[in-house]
Amino acid sequence: MALDLEDARRRYHFSFTREDHERLPFYSALMIALERDLVAQALLAGVRVEQRNPMLVLASLHLAALRGHPVLAPIYADARHGLITDHVAAADVVVGALNREPELVRSELHRSTQTNEPGRSAVFQAVIALIAQRGYPSINLVDVGTSAGINLHFDRFPVRAKDDGNPLTLICRDETPVDRSLRLPEVHSRVGIDPAPLDISATEDRLWLRACLWPEEPRRMDRLDAIIEQRPSWPATTVLRGTAAERLGEAIALGDPLSLTVVVNSYVVAYFTEADQASFFEDMAERCAGGNVAWISLESPFMVNWPTSSRSSEGAKTGATQVIVTLPGGSPSDWGWCHHHGLWTRLDVPEYSVSSVAS
Ligand SMILES: C[S@@+](CC[C@H](N)C(=O)[O-])C[C@H]1O[C@@H](n2cnc3c(N)ncnc32)[C@H](O)[C@@H]1O
Repeated sequence: MALDLEDARRRYHFSFTREDHERLPFYSALMIALERDLVAQALLAGVRVEQRNPMLVLASLHLAALRGHPVLAPIYADARHGLITDHVAAADVVVGALNREPELVRSELHRSTQTNEPGRSAVFQAVIALIAQRGYPSINLVDVGTSAGINLHFDRFPVRAKDDGNPLTLICRDETPVDRSLRLPEVHSRVGIDPAPLDISATEDRLWLRACLWPEEPRRMDRLDAIIEQRPSWPATTVLRGTAAERLGEAIALGDPLSLTVVVNSYVVAYFTEADQASFFEDMAERCAGGNVAWISLESPFMVNWPTSSRSSEGAKTGATQVIVTLPGGSPSDWGWCHHHGLWTRLDVPEYSVSSVAS
C-alpha cells in the first residue's frame, strides 16, 4: 500500500501545541524540519497506525543521541544545557543525519511511545482527593497503559505551584481553586496494565524512558533520576502484561472489595484500536454505573472515536487535555482541562449527585 506522506506531514504539524513551540525552541525547529522532510514523512507513514505518532520519531532520534551517536549526541547535550544558539541549523543537522542513516529511526519504530509522565499525578491527586472526600478512605488503583508504573505512585509526589528544589516535586499551577490540603485516601493496591510494560530497574528500559523525554526539559530528566533512585523504597505494585481489553477485569478483581477501585488512563486510548476504544469506554461506563468503581480519563480531545472528545471547545484549541471523571454510580462527566504534562489544571467540578452512593 502506498505511504500516506501528507497524513504523516499533518501529524508532525499538529503534534506540538503553541505552548510547546514557544517553550522548546530546539524541538520546535526539529518538528518543523521533520514535517518538511520526505524521509521523516515516509518513516512515520510506515508505522502501524496506532503508533503513528511523531513522538516515536523524536524519541528514536533522542535514543541514538543518548547512545552516543557522534553527530546527534553533542547537539542533544547542548539542547539539554540550553547551549544551542541556532535552533534551525541544529535541527537541520539532525534531519541531515536522519537522511544519511534512516536506520537510526527505522530500527526503533517497532517500539511504542511510552513517555511515563509523573506530572499527570498532580491531576490524579486533585481528582482522587475530591472523590475520596465523598466517603472513600481507601482505594485500589488501576492504571491502564502504565508504562513504567510511575503514576501508580501518584501519592508519592509533592505538588507545588513553584519549584522547591526537590526533583520529585510536581510543579502545577491550579488555575481554578484546588484544595491541595485535602487528604489522599490510603492506597490498598496498585495495579498497572500494559502490553509492553517498562521495568525501571532495567538499563534498556530506562534508556527508552529517558529518550521519550524532551531534552530541553532537564527537570523531567532529573525527576526520572530521582524516581529511579527512590522507587525501591516505594510500595509494591502489580503489573499485568497485556492490553486493557485483555486484562482490565483481572486488574479490578485484584483489589480489596471493601475499597473503591479507581481506574485511571492518561494518554493511552489513542494507542488502542478503534474497536478497543469503544469497548473500553462502554465497559468502564458500565462498571462505574454499576458499583464500587470510579474512573479518571486524561486524554486528548482530538480522538475521533472517543465519545467524550470535545474538539470545538477553548481547551481543545490550546491543545489541553480533557479531564473526564466518572463517579461510582454516575456517568462520564466533564471536569475541565489540564496541561498534557500536568503543568496546570483548570478544573470545573460539577455538583455531585452521588452522596447516597458514597454514604
Ligand atoms: C504514552 S504512554 C502513557 C503512559 C502513562 N499512562 C502516562 O500517562 O505517563 C502509553 C502507554 O500505553 C500503553 N498501551 C498501548 N496500547 C495499550 C492497550 N491496548 N492497553 C493498555 N495499554 C496500552 C503503551 O505500551 C504505553 O506504555
